[in-house]
Amino acid sequence: MSLSPGTKLGPYEIQALLGAGGMGEVYRANDKRLDRMVAIKVLPSHLSSDRDRIQRFEREARTISSLNHPHICALYDVGTQSSVTFLVMEFLQGETLADRLQRGALPIREALKIGKEIADALSKAHCLGIVHRDLKPGNIMLTKSGAKLMDFGLAKPAAPVLGVAASAADPLTPSKPTVTLASLASPQTQKGEILGTFRYMSPEQLQGRDADGRSDIFAFGAVLYEMATGKRAFEGKSQLSVASAILEKEPQPVSSLQKASPPALDHLIATCLAKNPDGAGACPCGPESPSRSPGRNVRRGACLRCSARVLAAMAAVCVTCEDRVLHLSS
Ligand SMILES: Nc1ncnc2c1ncn2[C@@H]1O[C@H](COP(=O)(O)OP(=O)(O)OP(=O)(O)O)[C@@H](O)[C@H]1O
Ligand SMILES: [Mg+2]
Repeated sequence: MSLSPGTKLGPYEIQALLGAGGMGEVYRANDKRLDRMVAIKVLPSHLSSDRDRIQRFEREARTISSLNHPHICALYDVGTQSSVTFLVMEFLQGETLADRLQRGALPIREALKIGKEIADALSKAHCLGIVHRDLKPGNIMLTKSGAKLMDFGLAKPAAPVLGVAASAADPLTPSKPTVTLASLASPQTQKGEILGTFRYMSPEQLQGRDADGRSDIFAFGAVLYEMATGKRAFEGKSQLSVASAILEKEPQPVSSLQKASPPALDHLIATCLAKNPDGAGACPCGPESPSRSPGRNVRRGACLRCSARVLAAMAAVCVTCEDRVLHLSS
């Protein structure tokens, strides 16, 4: 569905199309009551036709609207008009991290600053029991006042199950790819938006487990890696090869690609990208955190409850690394 400028959705007047993704189109609009600019995401019509789903969606929206953090895009409102269901969000001016990454790696200091902001934002959300579930560069807006995480929880992609077509039971998760071995083997040129989300999925999500805080930590590591190196943490010519890289391969350490990168960043990223979320080994937030580079036995979080703490610790590591880079370059 496409809305033309001047269309009214309740008190909101559509002004221009901003973009489109797996959950529908996003428009800039004016809130006539407050005379402020907002961003409106209009959900596809097949999602707007089921009363139970709308109710669940509204429940989730209530929880997410309680998230108040300088690095989280605020959710203001949710509404339905003439079977059009829409979300009203803070309007963000800037460019998405995905667009920024098209021009290559970010300077390490900038990558660390954004990393800290994202880790802080995720930590706050996890404290409140909210998981992002679709952290990726396209859901991070770089604005004058820092990075802003968009699409918390609501635009969650449910887990694709390797080798089994994912169930279509939950159409509120439209980014949910229906993944089969055949579709995974298709070349990237046929990817649509699936691969965009897919690249940042944790091994356990790929294996069909529900996303929890630890999956956000995995995606955070993949995003941080890409910011620091300009390369994707897990590459492949097809979705199958990307999936197998996520399940089997470790990316080259950042320090081997970027000389200015401190070793602590390698450790932080490797901890995030540990294959097994509950493998043996020390909890990364604990004092006994392993000092050497990781591998399969490092935990991303000993349990869901500690993922907020893990992320807060990671944010602190980003700050320490940033100070070190600043010190070395001055
Ligand atoms: N709050 C916002 N303020 C300004 N622009 C936004 C906002 N939210 C989204 N956009 C713009 O709309 C585009 C589409 O966003 P959308 O979330 O629909 O797609 P996506 O992030 O690529 O995919 P997904 O559906 O997986 O989240 C974004 O790339 C961004 O440019
Ligand atoms: Mg998005």
